[in-house]
Amino acid sequence: MTIFSAQSTIITRASVALLSSNGLKRFSFSSTALYSPPLPKTKKRRFPIVSAVDIGGVTIARNDVVREDDPTNNVPDSIFSKLGMQLHRRDKHPIGIIKNAIYHYFDSNYAKKFETFEDLSPIVTTKQNFDDVLVPADHVSRSLNDTYYVDSQTVLRCHTSAHQAELLREGHRRFLVTGDVYRRDSIDSTHYPVFHQMEGFCVFSPEDWNESGKDSTLYAAEDLKKCLEGLARHLFGAVEMRWVDTYFPFTEPSFELEIYFKEDWLEVLGCGVTEQRILKQSGLENNVAWAFGLGLERLAMVLFDIPDIRLFWSDDERFTSQFGKGELGVKFKPFSKYPPCYKDISFWISESFTENNFCEVVRGIAGDLVEEVKLIDSFTNKKGMTSHCYRIVFRSMERSLTDEEVNDLQSKVRDEVQRKLNVELR
Ligand code: DAH
Repeated sequence: MTIFSAQSTIITRASVALLSSNGLKRFSFSSTALYSPPLPKTKKRRFPIVSAVDIGGVTIARNDVVREDDPTNNVPDSIFSKLGMQLHRRDKHPIGIIKNAIYHYFDSNYAKKFETFEDLSPIVTTKQNFDDVLVPADHVSRSLNDTYYVDSQTVLRCHTSAHQAELLREGHRRFLVTGDVYRRDSIDSTHYPVFHQMEGFCVFSPEDWNESGKDSTLYAAEDLKKCLEGLARHLFGAVEMRWVDTYFPFTEPSFELEIYFKEDWLEVLGCGVTEQRILKQSGLENNVAWAFGLGLERLAMVLFDIPDIRLFWSDDERFTSQFGKGELGVKFKPFSKYPPCYKDISFWISESFTENNFCEVVRGIAGDLVEEVKLIDSFTNKKGMTSHCYRIVFRSMERSLTDEEVNDLQSKVRDEVQRKLNVELR
């Protein structure tokens, strides 16, 4: 999931086994989506069709964000409907509970306050999302395959780091930014195309490090590690943790913090000492800074024992009623183990085929009824044609699915992959 680090995912193998199922939905909240009238009964939809959403008091129309006939746009309705939901601002939701616990840690451990931002629009420019944080022009995260583009210069932010530079330019020096972030990705119990991050940023002046006798970078790196180790202890108690060196375009040195949890190392955040060029752009050439970005779903899955990332979006009372404001120690009690239904699909791929595109088609049809999409076979014939066979796991969090319903979903997937992905069914 961390597209900027060397590793492709925050979750390690053991934690994938540990976190092997999840899901979620919506609450009534101040930033609610504005729904259009219900569709006629014949058109069954897996997600609400939303005509406009409200983000921080600004109404965004569907037609400005979802444009199927525009090749520079790849935002589906299922993603548009998530804009403005702001799970992180719900005090009784696991994501909001974790956010508040982190705020509490910073409030009680730092005399100098960290400002908090949690209502910044997730629709940002490519300059904010990439250029301002020095993401190279050819970096994979800039591709239409990885990021949701509204148009060639506007994206749904894929990390909260998109706000670092503008906040620095506005004069902020210590801040936490929480928000929903969007990434095109594979489908399994720990990956969902919308999740939540918290970014931390702290600028130091020469008087901060001069007294210590340390070089400014070392001073910032040590302070960062101390801060984050303390945060991990605040959330997880006395845990074993380790630092791993990594790469991010916006920091040098860069680290990941891993926590030993249920018999494996789990990556919980990326961080580092901010590249001097980013500070310079805001007139801070005599300063040094640290920054971090952490994934709130990952922390919440571990802390609350939530087995499937889809659960965070569930409005099923059996999920929502288990959590209370400020209650950090609660363990989620699974309320169902409805049977999974497996369907395989095989096709000859075209040159432009990508797994993320395939997953998006499946999600567009099945919504949160799809639990996993797995490549189970691949071969190339003598003519050079490559075949892929995918196993789709359908399972509802809330009820048993009927054969008829699953067959109907699968038949729609078959139709749509041919139409949209230029593949040949076998
Ligand atoms: N933006 C990174 C990601 O999404 C996480 C991160 C790493 C944020 C290092 C930072 C940082 O601010 O300094 O994978």
